[in-house]
Amino acid sequence: MRLTIAIDGPAAAGKGTLSRALAAAFGLAHLDTGLIYRAAGRRTLDGTPALEAAQTMTATDLEADDLRTPDVARAASQVAAIPEVRAALVDFQRAFARRSGGSVLDGRDIGTVICPDAEVKFFVTASDDVRAERRFRELLGTGHDVTFESVLADLKERDARDSARAAAPMKPAVDAVVLDTSEMDIDAAVAAAISLVTDRTGCQPVT
Ligand code: C5P
Repeated sequence: MRLTIAIDGPAAAGKGTLSRALAAAFGLAHLDTGLIYRAAGRRTLDGTPALEAAQTMTATDLEADDLRTPDVARAASQVAAIPEVRAALVDFQRAFARRSGGSVLDGRDIGTVICPDAEVKFFVTASDDVRAERRFRELLGTGHDVTFESVLADLKERDARDSARAAAPMKPAVDAVVLDTSEMDIDAAVAAAISLVTDRTGCQPVT
């Protein structure tokens, strides 16, 4: 069986950590689709029109070392609301999802639009304060000069834009399992997700 796992949810809910852990556990390739929108948003900050940034994206754009900044996150969320930008990026994501060894994709519209037939779907969430605290510590750890209040305001603004947009808004797929990580440490969340994948699919962890 070719296993596809879709993981969606708001910023800093733990999607990335959970996706990497599931990919390692089941021997799957992992695609962080947020990075694609960040790479497009990053280029708009240099003056490239959003659609051109999406249509001409290369692997090198995904390797830029400044994709994790608050400015790039905001620009990503702005370009992600443009339907033509999303359309230009769909084929790459679906082709990745179909790879023969199986895949985990994380983002905002994976279970609803990119991989509606994924065998297992998660919607990972956590309270605003918990997510802002996690992102605040991450940004401080990578040398960014931010305050907790600015990080919280940025997350709320981005979540509101991502869930209110007409094109592929962030929302749980009807068949997604909601994982609230507010009070769960990451090991517990990973263990819960691994047993759910095994129960649903019969696939056993390889590690
Ligand atoms: O996941 P991350 O926070 O890196 O994503 C950055 C932005 O990219 C999100 O705020 C969202 O606007 C956009 N995005 C999206 N669809 C995805 C992944 C990310 O619209 N599948």
